[in-house]
Amino acid sequence: MSNNANVYTTQAKVIHGAFIAVMIVVSLMTPYWVFGLVPFFTSPDMEVLERSTDATILPEGYALTWASAEEEAQAIDDFNWCRNCHSLKEGEKHRTGPNLYQILGQPYANQPQFYYSAPFKALRDEGAIWTYEALDAFIKNPGAEVPGTRMRYPPAIFENMQNDDARARAMKYMLINTQ
Ligand code: HEC
Repeated sequence: MSNNANVYTTQAKVIHGAFIAVMIVVSLMTPYWVFGLVPFFTSPDMEVLERSTDATILPEGYALTWASAEEEAQAIDDFNWCRNCHSLKEGEKHRTGPNLYQILGQPYANQPQFYYSAPFKALRDEGAIWTYEALDAFIKNPGAEVPGTRMRYPPAIFENMQNDDARARAMKYMLINTQ
């Protein structure tokens, strides 16, 4: 063979192989990096902790009603991104995030079969409970409130959740629909 340009050298094979390996890892990991998506759930036999019946936690958040149809329509809009990752009604399947049925007063990470992050499981073990204030702080900035959480926002929803009115509406929608 006289034309060297046609020889597929070992060095080229190694470079191409490494490139393909990197592409495979990036394409497998991108759904996790961007959306926190994992392709599995955990076993159903996790112990479900009792929901708090503390009167100072529950009525405050679960006595909410819509002031007007416009407010509700706006809230549906504010909650739209959340809906991609969270179901709300009893017994509905987990999505990328866990089902949020009766979230207020619930211990953190209390949904069987959902694959929670290590920091979430640690908070559950410490006895942390979802109060209105805890939900508000987490929803405002999940990564800052619980470093290492698997809950991710795209930039647009992050920006929207920095707005106190939009966040209060999204939370109201969540609370009214998870009673
Ligand atoms: C891209 C997916 C995604 C989006 C969008 C998202 N979440 Fe989540 N959410 C998650 C995941 C994943 C977890 C579990 C976190 C962990 O294990 O670290 C979670 C956890 C939660 C929890 C705690 C649940 C529990 O069982 O302890 C609440 C409450 C919550 N999200 C509310 C919201 C609200 C409100 C929005 C919209 C503003 C929202 N989420 C948007 C994925 C998402």
